[in-house]
Amino acid sequence: MRQFSPAPVKKEDLHAVLDAANWAPSGMNRQPWEFVVVTGKKIGEMGKSYHSTLAEYLKNWDSSPMRDSITKEAFIRFAETYGGAPVIIVVLVQADPLPNFRKADLESASAAMENLLLAATALELGTCWMTGPLRAEKILRTILAIPPDREIVAITPLGYPEGTTRGSAASRPGTGTQGAVGGITQTFRNETMKKVTILIGSPRKNGNTRILAAEAERGLKEQGIATETVFLNDLKIKGCQACYWCKKNDVVACAVKDDMQKIHHLIQESDGLILASPIYFSTVTAQTKAWLDRMFPYVSMNLIPKLPASKRVSFIFTQNQPDARLFESGIGSFMYAVGLSGLSVKDHMIACDLDTGVKPSVTEKKELMDRAFAIGRDLLR
Ligand SMILES: Cc1cc2nc3c(=O)[nH]c(=O)nc-3n(C[C@H](O)[C@H](O)[C@H](O)COP(=O)(O)O)c2cc1C
Repeated sequence: MRQFSPAPVKKEDLHAVLDAANWAPSGMNRQPWEFVVVTGKKIGEMGKSYHSTLAEYLKNWDSSPMRDSITKEAFIRFAETYGGAPVIIVVLVQADPLPNFRKADLESASAAMENLLLAATALELGTCWMTGPLRAEKILRTILAIPPDREIVAITPLGYPEGTTRGSAASRPGTGTQGAVGGITQTFRNETMKKVTILIGSPRKNGNTRILAAEAERGLKEQGIATETVFLNDLKIKGCQACYWCKKNDVVACAVKDDMQKIHHLIQESDGLILASPIYFSTVTAQTKAWLDRMFPYVSMNLIPKLPASKRVSFIFTQNQPDARLFESGIGSFMYAVGLSGLSVKDHMIACDLDTGVKPSVTEKKELMDRAFAIGRDLLR
């Protein structure tokens, strides 16, 4: 489809295509996709960004495969306006550092895109899976404020085809996309879907801690729970400055403006947390401890927690020593301190006898993998 009617897409049609996309099959049932729904003047900005790379593409127009299906002028018009579509949908995945996960996630997001296109066609909506805009990916990322840990997988305009009944002026109700999604850009997530944030305190992106956290994630996904994984080591989180700003003002916020703001935001929007950390010198890693100290705003001076007990947390610890009892006191006091925030501690596991690159990988220890899976599966049960 290369010429769209400007008629807004009906809210129920938009939700139906996104719902169909959410039902796509996914590798390890990770359902890694997110959808950015773009409307309004942002579409113009996206068109302009594409325009800047168009000149380069047009240099080889005579040998372009597009030449047989569209005139050069129509192609330029389409590229600069996304065919006049009232909506653009951008499919993202969280960029996974492990190649096999990354590949699985890209395949899954492509399947979601295909579901989306088929559902749109069934509703007489037009689409056009476009690869061209990714030539100007950097600018696109800026326009849509896509964070560095998200990968753009696919883009399509969405709208009723020009000249059809659904695209005619007569069927342009006031309850269109603008009213439906209420803004220029937003990430769509099924509103009824629960979400869990997974915090990883290991500096290793493919160490045993991460592998177990990924198993827990699989368990969460099996329950239809959305997840977001954060490597604490990638964030700049200062130690608590003991300014007591949060206490003096009695607010759940912090005077130190660094990446902890992102974590606070995630905690607010999540129904639970999984915290996975290796044991370093009898307790959690420094990255994990910095996070804990910065949870101070959630603890009031009379020890009445600020987070609702309905938010749950489970822990995964990994250690080299084969005896799980060795660091129980350090682990116990860490979990107690996390609980002071109000999060209800649901479960924990201590995975022993692990040393990445020296001892066998945890993937060879089925009972530990199963336990981590169950930690995720049961967190919100
Ligand atoms: C600085 C440092 C300190 C460690 N201290 C301990 C410790 O006190 N007890 C223990 O059993 N293992 C200790 N280990 C081993 C790690 O806890 C263990 O290998 C863990 O599984 C590493 O997780 P990863 O594979 O995600 O890196 C230490 C490792 C490092 C690098």
